[in-house]
Amino acid sequence: MAGKVFRSLLRSTSSTNIFQNSPGLRYFSSQVQTVTLIPGDGIGPEISDSVKQIFAASGAPVDWEEVDVTPVKGPDGKFHLPQKIFESMGKTKVGLKGPLATPIGKGHQSLNLALRKAFSLYANVRPCRSIEGFKTPYEDVDIVTIRENTEGEYSGIEHVIVDGVVQSIKLITEQASMRVAEYAFKFARDNDRSTVTAVHKANIMRMSDGLFLKCCREVAEKNRDIKFSEMYLDTVCLNMVQDPTQFDVLVMPNLYGDILSDLCAGLIGGLGVTPSGNIGGEGAIFESVHGTAPDIAGEDKANPTALLLSAVMMLRHMGLGEHARRIEKAALEAISEGKVLTGDLGGNAKCSDFTKEICRKVESSS
Ligand code: IPM
Ligand code: MN
Repeated sequence: MAGKVFRSLLRSTSSTNIFQNSPGLRYFSSQVQTVTLIPGDGIGPEISDSVKQIFAASGAPVDWEEVDVTPVKGPDGKFHLPQKIFESMGKTKVGLKGPLATPIGKGHQSLNLALRKAFSLYANVRPCRSIEGFKTPYEDVDIVTIRENTEGEYSGIEHVIVDGVVQSIKLITEQASMRVAEYAFKFARDNDRSTVTAVHKANIMRMSDGLFLKCCREVAEKNRDIKFSEMYLDTVCLNMVQDPTQFDVLVMPNLYGDILSDLCAGLIGGLGVTPSGNIGGEGAIFESVHGTAPDIAGEDKANPTALLLSAVMMLRHMGLGEHARRIEKAALEAISEGKVLTGDLGGNAKCSDFTKEICRKVESSS
């Protein structure tokens, strides 16, 4: 695969963009743009602070509008996202989000999901690429999972049929399947990737996964410059742990994407170093996918890398590729040098030391 060889050549130069261009809104890069910032819970405020410091060091023309998304009780007695987030995202169209806790049994659904639904963020993009110099069980991984982000097993439609029997609906629509398939091919083209693989279980879920697969095939027909393949989810898992370098861009329904993207993150060092973007027609929210780590919250021990690399994806989405490149290079260099690392990355530095190290590198970089 020429594309793959070319990309691995590029990877050996430290100035390469590794976290892809997102097709999306483009702006003039000189004017200051406002981004909605949801710092989140637990370690969220600390890692958000770290990102803000690094952005400032790079001179990125970004203003932050911080929004607290704690749900509010509406007149119907149900909890809703606060109006402020709709106002802010309606204006900025782009957000960065730290981890949010979902209190169990407190009467509202996961806020993470509520945000994806509220802004119709239909494609969840998670690039997993090996970080040079950072030792993990696998090398040369370069995979992007693209997950349908609004329906499937996440439709939230569940009911008791009779005592002891519950039913959960996996909702698959042609509209959502087409748009995520179209996004996957466009993403592949815009980022010089050669192959899109549809991941499914249409042998079992003949109608639902069958429809998803039919949509992918239809879109593949219209995008003949990108290679298309289809594979069963279980086969992908087996092949993935044997040799992940054979995979490129993967597109799949919601739950498969949730699980497989964690698996892929595990190949390159875990959720602490893996970015994520939720892309919609009207806006996008970039987020770290790890938890809130309440046990170390406020102790200056958290690793801001996942949120920072998500912010790098965000910069590219906003047309600020040069700032993205410099920040990404500084962060990856700091990790591969291994001198100042947080505990989860094998070091004993504080979040603030790691942040300073990246700031120093950003300031002295060209
Ligand atoms: C993710 C997370 C979420 C999901 C949770 C926090 C609701 O695991 O972003 O992958 O299941 O989608
Ligand atoms: Mn997940």
